[in-house]
Amino acid sequence: MQRRSWAEPFKIKVVEHLRMTTRAERERAIVEAGYNTFLLRSDDVYIDLLTDSGTSAMSDRQWAGMMLGDEAYAGSANFYHLESAVREFYGYKHVIPTHQGRGAEHILSRSCIKPGDFVPGNMYFTTTRVHQELAGGQFVDVIIDQAHDPGSEFAFKGNVDLDKLARLIERVGARRIPYLALHATVNMAGGQPISMANAREVSALCRRHGIKVFLDATRAVENCYFIKTREPEYADRSLAEILRELCSYTDGCTMSGKKDCLVNIGGFLAVNDDDLADAARNMVVIYEGLHTYGGLAGRDMEAMAIGIHESVQYDHMHARIGQVQYLGEIIEREGVPIVRPIGGHGIFLNALEFLPNMPREQFPAQALAAALYVDSGVRAMERGAVSAGRDPETGKNSFPQLELVRLTIPRRVYTQAHMDVTAESVVALYQQRARIVGLRFTYEPKHLRFFQARFGPVEGDRVLRDQDPP
Ligand code: F0G
Repeated sequence: MQRRSWAEPFKIKVVEHLRMTTRAERERAIVEAGYNTFLLRSDDVYIDLLTDSGTSAMSDRQWAGMMLGDEAYAGSANFYHLESAVREFYGYKHVIPTHQGRGAEHILSRSCIKPGDFVPGNMYFTTTRVHQELAGGQFVDVIIDQAHDPGSEFAFKGNVDLDKLARLIERVGARRIPYLALHATVNMAGGQPISMANAREVSALCRRHGIKVFLDATRAVENCYFIKTREPEYADRSLAEILRELCSYTDGCTMSGKKDCLVNIGGFLAVNDDDLADAARNMVVIYEGLHTYGGLAGRDMEAMAIGIHESVQYDHMHARIGQVQYLGEIIEREGVPIVRPIGGHGIFLNALEFLPNMPREQFPAQALAAALYVDSGVRAMERGAVSAGRDPETGKNSFPQLELVRLTIPRRVYTQAHMDVTAESVVALYQQRARIVGLRFTYEPKHLRFFQARFGPVEGDRVLRDQDPP
């Protein structure tokens, strides 16, 4: 059959130089960073797949929008553009800008959760859960079991398990469940989507019990792409139509605009309830800024408003998810264990299968991410026990079933050749996996420890030996 490729729906207007490093330089840099890729200087990184958060390339239209920043303290024109974009594409009534997603999570958690409450969600996200806990709530995971199984091929591994949710309601009572946090394309599960059918059922069950549903809309448009391509009745619907329907099953959302909305900074909280909106507007003044800027410059809100329009274009999303799939398929072809099916925002290496002999206490995913950096200057991120932290009650390390290294693809930033270089490094490392040394903590911060923790090798002074061990 004749091959017909697709290509990115853009061409490149501005380039940013990348610094190449030697292996000796990277060996030094990773020691200085305490073997934590979050603590590397970006100057020392060649291909930066740490995160897709705030790392997108803005379009020429977004940059032009930056020049239209109305930097009035109150009532900036850009706020109204953002508000109308959110209303048009997400369909919520009230829009409250925040500096980024966790600002919205903070305000939502503090406005809705009372000490002793339970907050169910389809898998935890780090910042989301910490805000729920700081507000006195307890997170309860109600995602389907397949989400915890990296090999399950189920098409919607982000789905909520309705039985788990019903059992929680029965056990603690609906009055102690202020809301359910519904994550679109579940980050910690490997960028796995929820189906529209599941969202509809979750919403119906929650509404019957008077429990609100708030969407984590951070990567909701990516989720809509999976609905369009995997849920047959949506094949002919536009991403914008699918997004409106998805949001219609929820009472509002928290948004990190740094992902789907294609901006380097920004977020918002959107809700339908008038009283909640009042409370949130009152709180945003204390923590973020006046309710018409929420910690953002006018130009940031303009760029986010334009980014929202661009994010629902099919060609954009097809290329975005297509690039992730391209990387995943090469890695997989060489036998490297990854989370299946390939998700929306990155490739997740299964560190437990990659390094089957390394004890969990030596943080295989953390060690693998450090070794990958040393091999090629590709920066990835641990998503396993270090990210999961300690059990708030017992103080013991949590060892989630998923111990992953995330290769996260920024939007519109890297080319296919960068994906090839990345894949080759992952494959080379897999062939030398016996050389990777485990890690132990040398410094452990109290909250969200993965961001700032420092480590050292459990033996010797390097995370990647030159030769296989004897
Ligand atoms: N929700 C999800 C699903 C996220 O992935 C993130 C951030 C947030 C909320 C918080 O948003 O960073 O703007 O405050 N995820 C980034 C990541 C940090 O790398 O996955 P934020």
